[in-house]
Amino acid sequence: MARLIAGMGTSHVPGVGAAMDNGKTHEDYWVELFKGFEPIRAWHAKNVPDVNIIVFNDHATSMSLNHYSTFMMGVAEQFQPADEGWGPRKVPMVEGHPELAWHLVENLILDEFDMAVTADFDVDHGLTVPLSIAYDQPDAWPAKVIPLCVNVIQYPQPTALRCFKLGQAIRRAVDSFPEDITVGIWGTGGLSHQLGGERAGVVNPDFDKRFLDNLVSDPIANASLTHTDFIREAGSEGIEMIMWNVMRGALDEDVREVYRLYHIPVSATAYGAIILENS
Ligand code: DHB
Ligand code: FE
Repeated sequence: MARLIAGMGTSHVPGVGAAMDNGKTHEDYWVELFKGFEPIRAWHAKNVPDVNIIVFNDHATSMSLNHYSTFMMGVAEQFQPADEGWGPRKVPMVEGHPELAWHLVENLILDEFDMAVTADFDVDHGLTVPLSIAYDQPDAWPAKVIPLCVNVIQYPQPTALRCFKLGQAIRRAVDSFPEDITVGIWGTGGLSHQLGGERAGVVNPDFDKRFLDNLVSDPIANASLTHTDFIREAGSEGIEMIMWNVMRGALDEDVREVYRLYHIPVSATAYGAIILENS
């Protein structure tokens, strides 16, 4: 049977990918952050699953705002890095896992999560930057990927609780996949940030740190946050944090925190990362 081994939460700030792609990681602005990535990369080098489910959001790159799915699963053999305006990132092709992806779609829908499905989707920084954070710059990504796209950019977005429950349903589905494979799950985005408007640049370390603490020991507290809580406390783009709840919902009730990183600022955000193993 498939086995879900661990989860990671990480911001997906596009500037992190650009710093790597353009050879700027030695610059003062980036040095400390990339030093903080070293334990993340060391852990991932030792814990490569067969497939990672990467919960992320498309930033109106491949999906038009005219038709934006709440939850969408990628079932393709491959996903091309998207062109976000200055050419696709020169990172490896993202290899999918159609068998597990279709198993998830079928089981989630039967479990009353009505997933949209795509077999043709270019993946933007929301997915490729976390891969770069975890795996650096390899010739090929070491694990297959199932992209799971969540609407956090157009009202009405799903609730924090719905995302947590989706994670729980994903876990049930993974547990029933008959092949002996290992699976990781990543929640991306956040932490507190606001890219435009009067409060552009807002970050809230107290809120972020409580969210990280609760992710370990009181995930229901994070699942109880409202959209207003996120906007008020974490800025208009802080809602991306609901995607970490999908990851947490898929893990065991008790988890072991392996590593945590918190760094301000990274572009307009408070950067956060956490690795949680099933205990
Ligand atoms: C930034 C952060 C994001 O999560 C994003 O999707 C785009 C930009 C930023 O801080 O620059
Ligand atoms: Fe984002």
